[in-house]
Amino acid sequence: MHDVGKIFVPPEILNKPGSLTVDERTIMNRHPVDGAWFLSAVRPDLHRDVLDAALYHHEDFDGRGYPCGLTAQRIPLVARIIAVADAIDALLSPRVYRPAWVPGRVRHYLADRSGTRLDPLVVSVAIDRFDTLLTLRQGRGKRRAKLILLAERET
Ligand SMILES: [Fe+2]
Repeated sequence: MHDVGKIFVPPEILNKPGSLTVDERTIMNRHPVDGAWFLSAVRPDLHRDVLDAALYHHEDFDGRGYPCGLTAQRIPLVARIIAVADAIDALLSPRVYRPAWVPGRVRHYLADRSGTRLDPLVVSVAIDRFDTLLTLRQGRGKRRAKLILLAERET
């Protein structure tokens, strides 16, 4: 739901194999604002966290993200979590311009972006529970993953 604003991005930009032009990047970078606007228009009763996730999921921990250039804890926690989850999911997925990354490479990417693009605390939790996240993402062994999370919670 955080990327719902991409429905306003033309498919030729969304699926472009090469890098985007400055104008195309400007259009693409509007999707957080468009998404938050769209969600609040169609569902005014949505929880604030959902709107924050849509609006702020491309903010970078060091302030170099968009649309607002927020830093660190000024970025709502839900958006910092979505940023990490989105990076994991995107890198593990094949794209028209690159094949899917292997899990080890994704873990290295997270560690490398910790404190710059991504929240170090969220990255640390994601790396600690990486295998569980992979299991959850694959949609296989959901019951097993839930049991792992419950067991961790009790210890
Ligand atoms: Fe996005």
